[in-house]
Amino acid sequence: MKRKLLSAILCVSMVATMLVGCGSKAETATTDTAATEAPAAADTTEAATEAAAEATTAGGKIGVAMPTQSSERWINDGANMKEQLEKLGYEVDLQYAEDDVQAQVSQIENMIANGANCLVIASIDSSALVNVEQQAKDAGIPIIAYDRLLMDTDAVSYYATFDNKGVGTAIGKYIETAKDLAAAKEAGESYTIEFFMGSPDDNNAKMLYDGLMEVLQPYLDDGTLVCKSGRTSFEDTCILRWSQETAQQNCENYLTGFYADEDLDICATAFDGFAYGCKAALEGAGYTTDNWPLITGQDAELMATKNIIAGTQTMSIYKDTRLLAEKCVTMVQAVMEGAEPEINDTEQYNNGKITVPSYLCTPVAVDKDNYKEIIVDGGYYTEEQLAE
Ligand code: BGC
Repeated sequence: MKRKLLSAILCVSMVATMLVGCGSKAETATTDTAATEAPAAADTTEAATEAAAEATTAGGKIGVAMPTQSSERWINDGANMKEQLEKLGYEVDLQYAEDDVQAQVSQIENMIANGANCLVIASIDSSALVNVEQQAKDAGIPIIAYDRLLMDTDAVSYYATFDNKGVGTAIGKYIETAKDLAAAKEAGESYTIEFFMGSPDDNNAKMLYDGLMEVLQPYLDDGTLVCKSGRTSFEDTCILRWSQETAQQNCENYLTGFYADEDLDICATAFDGFAYGCKAALEGAGYTTDNWPLITGQDAELMATKNIIAGTQTMSIYKDTRLLAEKCVTMVQAVMEGAEPEINDTEQYNNGKITVPSYLCTPVAVDKDNYKEIIVDGGYYTEEQLAE
């Protein structure tokens, strides 16, 4: 009885936490509903390309707007972009906005004011940049969306990213194989699972969730996977701004509220930062190697890869940021020189205004069995870095 009451209290506090987690983007997002008499997207892209091509002859300035330095991947992304663009002779203005939406708007405004010829944007809130994107478009400055789709705008020319739904499917398939869910189903066995999904203002997060659930939903439906918190929808499991702290808090709440009598077997997380949060919560709750759950992640950060080797994270999704930067740079070059970049998807990425021509890089699942081949042999991290 007491336990039930405690659970109920924890559930209520968890719902409050979740609300904090998913938040409302109205708090930070700049709103933009201004109707504009914009020319058709194709015309704009053409005009922007011509303007950018003229600028190239006089040297070119590229503004690169990145979301945050709090996670390693974006530091690598920014560094790779800068290095590759500078090699081609462009001047680069690289800015990080530390997950502050207004700061990112100001940074992009400054880039425009300072004469950028092309903008590369990895957004914080993908719908919050509509005004400033319009400003760029009016000034004939082409925009490339980097990793995260820019929503509700026709000012974006191209999009370089990873197959975001494919990331979710890869995580789902990893869980399915590692736990042999098909056999468990046959045998009438079950595993407990909790979900930690990405930021609701990032289009990638919902796509990842869709890919993940394409694989796992049937097992939730037939009881092979049991989510004791009952929180399986995207709305219930998303975490605003990909906050590691919120993931840890959510995991702590789940463990106390629902896993006092039974172990949590799987933390299905969408980000290495969430995996770190879960790890801390599990350690705090007394989990050991004897009952450590399967923990997924995304980005194959250095620390995540070390944790994979140590056994405190099971897998991650390796996204070669060098390759993404390379693809993005070809898009920059194309708009600056009036050429056509390589595109491999013209259907999936509709941003509410236009379908943005995209290049999707392939994500790869890594774990202790293949990290050497993929990550070390691929030159992403050295053995020395991993041993430090
Ligand atoms: C990226 C992920 C990253 C996440 C948190 C997403 O938009 O696609 O690779 O883990 O943001 O930074």
